[in-house]
Amino acid sequence: MELAVVVPTFNERGNVPLLVEQLEAALQGVAWEVVFVDDDSPDGTAEAARELARRDPRVRVIQRIGRRGLSTACIEGMCATAAPVVAVIDGDLQHDEALLPRMLRALQEDAALDVVVGSRFVAGGGTGEWDRDRVAKSAFATRLSRRVLRADLKDPMSGFFAIRTEIVRRLAPELSGIGFKILLDLMTASRRPLRFVELPYTFRTRAVGESKLDHVVAMEYLIALWDRMVGRIVPARFALFCLIGLIGVVPHMAVLALMHAGLGVGFRTAQIAATGVAMTANFFLNNALTYRDARLKGARALFGGWVSFCLACSVGAVANVGVADFLHGVRAGAWVVPALAGIAVSAVWNYALSSRFVWGR
Ligand code: GDD
Ligand code: MN
Repeated sequence: MELAVVVPTFNERGNVPLLVEQLEAALQGVAWEVVFVDDDSPDGTAEAARELARRDPRVRVIQRIGRRGLSTACIEGMCATAAPVVAVIDGDLQHDEALLPRMLRALQEDAALDVVVGSRFVAGGGTGEWDRDRVAKSAFATRLSRRVLRADLKDPMSGFFAIRTEIVRRLAPELSGIGFKILLDLMTASRRPLRFVELPYTFRTRAVGESKLDHVVAMEYLIALWDRMVGRIVPARFALFCLIGLIGVVPHMAVLALMHAGLGVGFRTAQIAATGVAMTANFFLNNALTYRDARLKGARALFGGWVSFCLACSVGAVANVGVADFLHGVRAGAWVVPALAGIAVSAVWNYALSSRFVWGR
């Protein structure tokens, strides 16, 4: 076994047989296997791959239940082979499989080399039919990656590369697994910079199915960057929780303005309503973003989660007032520092409590 080709898939049923045909043609003379890592696609991608596997032992299928994520799928696939070299390629035929033998050979011939990257941004490569918008977004993401990547890699966003399997196994515990950027994750996880070369290819247009790169994936990219930069000090999840708490000020003030200033409702009543609305907004935002991997779904789970979230936040509010009050008493006249300390304590408290009791993380 020389090479394992790992293919993350989600709703790629129509592409699976075509990809295997292409691999077969491209990898003549190479001892290879392909590992599809499918997240239980509703369109039956895993079954389509198993169908091929019954006839061809080089085809393998990992079907993950109740999990989603391109990066984690790649990591699990890469760790699930006996081949010394592993390549990752998209399942939608957008990458150029004809590059695979050259990627393999480069690693076989140069023992000092760690990674070979399929690159759209070196001479001879290209982004194909991308519109200006997508080119601009990709360029922006690449520029951002420079903040964590200390290497002149032209296409760190590439989802197409080959690497020594032992390196993946060594780095696996350090990988964040967040989002789409598995190559960047690998390159920045290693303490010793990985030695790489880039081989040009042109990104093809997707013929069947659709892209899963959406706003959540874009946000996950920012979270992954945060994680690499300061994640050890301030976990990305906590940062997001605080950010959403801050955003909650907007609905809070809006309700207060409408009820108290606008309709003349008493301040305390309006303040209670505003707090309720802000907590509700925070609950749903945290459910969709901060805890998207443990997202509560269905009316019952959502209602139960909302009640526990409000309870957790009420305890946080008591802690807030308690701490602020205490510090205010320590130094008479001081109010800014006590207030901020109260907020900080309740943020940590709310986070810890709701993490554990609302989303079970
Ligand atoms: N198992 C699994 N789980 N596979 C997934 C998931 C997931 O949650 N999301 C996407 N995939 C699979 C798709 O089925 C496809 O085979 C591959 O990952 C790439 O997903 P696309 O949704 O087609 O991504 P893209 O074409 O928009 O983005 C590609 O190009 C980018 C470069 O701009 C990817 O290769 C990115 O990694 C790359 O950065
Ligand atoms: Mn694609």
